[in-house]
Amino acid sequence: MSLIPVIAIDGPGGSGKGTISREVARILGWHLLDSGALYRVVALQVRQESIDLADEAAIAALAQSLDVRFDTAAGEERIWLQDVDVTAEIRSEACGVAASRVAVLGAVRAALTERQRRFQQLPGLVADGRDMGSVIFPDAGLKIFLTASVDERAGRRYKQLNEKGISVSLRTLRRDMADRDKRDSERPVAPLRACSDAKVFDTTGLSIEKVVSTVLDWASDTWPGQAAD
Ligand code: DC
Repeated sequence: MSLIPVIAIDGPGGSGKGTISREVARILGWHLLDSGALYRVVALQVRQESIDLADEAAIAALAQSLDVRFDTAAGEERIWLQDVDVTAEIRSEACGVAASRVAVLGAVRAALTERQRRFQQLPGLVADGRDMGSVIFPDAGLKIFLTASVDERAGRRYKQLNEKGISVSLRTLRRDMADRDKRDSERPVAPLRACSDAKVFDTTGLSIEKVVSTVLDWASDTWPGQAAD
């Protein structure tokens, strides 16, 4: 196990990874890596620069030199691409779908690897994504794979988007989610799947509080005296 503790939280879209990771990191006072946001920012810039999605080398070069900054100074997470605040823009469904397309490219994943590993800093890191436990932090002391039924996940995302004033159809959302799951799970490079040493946690029907407290219990079992026990 690495000296700087890492909790790797992987799983499909809408499984609650983002909310759970943010809350666990906040309670523990640890750093947070929202790796999906990196893929979303790459996708946004690819679109802005009208780069062809088939041009793997150009997208990898862009990912390598990406000028992205995660800012939590004011107590809320803001994401900057160069000097533009893209926090809201990258959360759109279109950007999620585009992110899932750039994420199939091996050279793009490789270009983002070191950048993600630099988030491992004291006192600890909660890393949220698809390949945190399998590829980026294979030595993570605690690996969790969150799942929930596709209906429940689509329902959660629908509620989230509605709360932000973004109108979508639940049916389209469910279909896009199922497509995205398929693309993320079937890609040859770092496919979405639970690694053998991950705790698989089905959150269907569970409250955020229940999931967070279970993760915190596992963390304090893994790092007694170090992780909020
Ligand atoms: O978690 P998210 O919805 O923000 O992720 C957007 C897309 O990025 C998702 O469809 C797959 C991809 N992704 C990935 O391939 N690997 C990661 N570690 C994180 C996200």
